[in-house]
Amino acid sequence: FPLQFLNTFGIAAAAHAYLRVTKKEQLLGVYADGAWVSLPKLILGGGSNVLLTRDFDGLVLHIALEGKEIIGGDAQYHFVRAAAGENWHQFVQWTLAQGMGGLENLSLIPGTVGAAPIQNIGAYGLEIKDVFHSVTVFDPATAETRVMDAATCRFGYRDSVFKHEGRTLIILDVTFALPRQWQPNLRYAELANEPGLGAAPTPQQVADAVIAIRRRKLPDPAVIGNAGSFFKNPVVPGAQCAALLERFPNLVHHAQADGTEKLAAGWLIDQCGWKGKHLGAAGVYPKQALVLVNNGGATGAEVVALARAIQADVQARYGVLLEPEPVFI
Ligand code: FAD
Ligand code: EPU
Repeated sequence: FPLQFLNTFGIAAAAHAYLRVTKKEQLLGVYADGAWVSLPKLILGGGSNVLLTRDFDGLVLHIALEGKEIIGGDAQYHFVRAAAGENWHQFVQWTLAQGMGGLENLSLIPGTVGAAPIQNIGAYGLEIKDVFHSVTVFDPATAETRVMDAATCRFGYRDSVFKHEGRTLIILDVTFALPRQWQPNLRYAELANEPGLGAAPTPQQVADAVIAIRRRKLPDPAVIGNAGSFFKNPVVPGAQCAALLERFPNLVHHAQADGTEKLAAGWLIDQCGWKGKHLGAAGVYPKQALVLVNNGGATGAEVVALARAIQADVQARYGVLLEPEPVFI
């Protein structure tokens, strides 16, 4: 089964078998059927955070569960639930149309609602953990569903339990707690400085500003294949950052609450001269060095080769190992 149009990198790989999951019962069927149980499984949403390095010799479960609803609230929050297969950006827009702010900083992030908790998606001063209530998962090991709260999900920067022990769980739906007393979140300087926002913007105006910034900086996967940031921003001890600053005074860094420092991987890659460069058909986006792109017909192996070359240069110059953000298949 061809996967080229199911991953935003546009890598031409294939899967042994494919199932579009529109009903939860289909999952019960797959995990009860002897012929399917033993096959390796790949859960796929929008394919915007995966790198297919070769053909997948197993079953792709393409999560296309639909539905979104306001399920109530309390004195502080509206509770809103969406099924895993809903498009993330359309869901954000829908909440805004219901008059509920809270998700606007995460506008225009590609992919599905169900994948959003996997790496605790974040942008422009907000992470999903900040607006998260709970998640319903299907556990293939027991064929049961259960609800997990924020603490159980162990969210971190681009991280959650679903990248570790919870790797095999399938997210069915996600519930968000959106504040009744909404305040704009303009902590991210670039967003606060966006012209036209004014002193008291509405949630939709903040969303529009985020969309404008993203359109300027990030490539549209419909035009040029990519998976967003290819590496995480490395977090280093404060002392290591201080030593680097002595040699590289322009180093872009952000102090974290625990005394560590988050470095801008895009800056490190840019300084190594990689912006706009390419190896074969895999390239570094000319407007944002943290984004690797498919310039046309790139293989997963070409993207990996480019990533390794970048990692080696950044390591040699700054002594920092960049960790990929997308999931390598
Ligand atoms: P997929 O790529 O389909 O899957 C990603 C991982 O999640 C895989 O391991 C998959 O097995 C697993 N998975 C998917 N669905 C489920 C499910 N229902 N249950 C269990 N596991 C599942 N990310 C950010 O955090 N911030 C950004 O600002 C951002 N900007 C981006 C910009 C661009 C142009 C692109 C292409 C990507 C960007 N991303 C960003 C990355 C990506 O959009 C997110 O990681 C998104 O949540 C991936 O969703 P998806 O449905 O495409 O997941
Ligand atoms: N920079 C450069 N050169 C570049 C790119 C960036 O010098 O080529 C510098 C910028 O000038 C800036 C700093 O690096 O000072 C940070 O850049 P930017 O604001 O573009 O953000 P980022 O750290 O590159 C992160 C997320 C994005 C998210 C934005 C906005 C990660 C890995 N990436 O990017 O998430 O949208 O912040 O919050 O944390 C994604 O995960 O796929 C993604 C796009």
